[in-house]
Amino acid sequence: MISGGWQRAARGAGLLADDGTVAATIFAEMSALAVSTGAINLGQGFPDEDAPVEVREAARQAIADGVNQYPPGRGMPVLLDAISAHQQRFYGLAVDPGTEVLVTAGATEALAATILALIEPGDEVVTFEPFYDAYGALISLAGGIHRTVPLRAPDFQPDLDELTNAVTDRTRLIIVNNPHNPTGAVFPRETLEHVVALAHRHDAIIVTDEVYEHLTFGVAHIPVATLPGARERTVTISSGGKTFNTTGWKIGWLTAPAEIVTAILAVKQFLTYVNGAPFQPAIALGLGLPDSFFAGVAADLQHKRDVLAGGLTAAGFAISVPQGSYFIVADAAGLGFEDGVEFCRRLPGLTGVVAVPISAFCSPQHKPQFASLVRFAYCKKATLLEQAASQLAGIAS
Ligand SMILES: Cc1ncc(COP(=O)(O)O)c(C=O)c1O
Repeated sequence: MISGGWQRAARGAGLLADDGTVAATIFAEMSALAVSTGAINLGQGFPDEDAPVEVREAARQAIADGVNQYPPGRGMPVLLDAISAHQQRFYGLAVDPGTEVLVTAGATEALAATILALIEPGDEVVTFEPFYDAYGALISLAGGIHRTVPLRAPDFQPDLDELTNAVTDRTRLIIVNNPHNPTGAVFPRETLEHVVALAHRHDAIIVTDEVYEHLTFGVAHIPVATLPGARERTVTISSGGKTFNTTGWKIGWLTAPAEIVTAILAVKQFLTYVNGAPFQPAIALGLGLPDSFFAGVAADLQHKRDVLAGGLTAAGFAISVPQGSYFIVADAAGLGFEDGVEFCRRLPGLTGVVAVPISAFCSPQHKPQFASLVRFAYCKKATLLEQAASQLAGIAS
């Protein structure tokens, strides 16, 4: 039997099977079920609309122009400048493009390089729970200890006393995903300020995953780095994938104080070295699109949220209306299903729709707390969501 870091990663993701192999994720199982049953796949969170035409055209042009070799290690200057200008334009944050920005292979590599660079084996990392599944695997891979603070239905906001208790002098990183996957929660300023105060008290670094930064509905996105005392100890991570419907391009980035960026770069250069040369100028162009583009993306997604939320409510689910991201959490308990995994396995047969259980975003010991909750993605065409809504209405019959 081959042993090594893969086992730590699989254990951290709750995927190490009893026979020592990596179990299939519930996402893969549900997507396969969608294919085999022809059901509408609202399980996986990828958009079914294409990127803006000018962004696609810029990538095509870059390939035609020969932008096909290794770009600079930190990223191409045109994208570094665009990320810096974006932070200034939307948040008033002055970021030095030469030293305080790093382009990565999606937000995922930014997370991986950050966690591997900044923790020693045995250090603790605090996240909310449920959490984006990569966090558990990456913390484990780096030899860290994962502590979580629950986000409970219906509003999925943390209890600040529980947060206070989770962060100690052993905490090296506090990872905040805002807007939050899988719950769609957006955390208020008070919560984010509390995170900053705790990071100061215990000398921790804050890592914020803000990939849904432009996808909030009626509430402004607050980057943690804009809060007093935060900037010097915050790594801000984002990605072009969600904003521009380019999840397959894997162009992500982080901004942080120069010293922290250098530490993360030391790891990143041996993970991928560089990535996506022709996509970098295209995402740079996207980041410079007018305000109307960004407002339009959020308004469009809000409409889709409303279509799905209406359908789920009409079908008898208790839901939490999300303030951001791609996802709605629904409680299947009211419909007589206490086990979300079992419910998701049966849902395609009952309604022709696929969802994923929230327990897939939990550490093994905490899955029971979230057992009856399931996640539906609404980053799909409105017509498809209307179809899903009408099919879901059949569940009570
Ligand atoms: C919270 C969160 N972080 C990171 C990612 C990964 O982003 P990327 O595709 O840019 O690596 C996702 C994608 O679903 C996500 O939901």
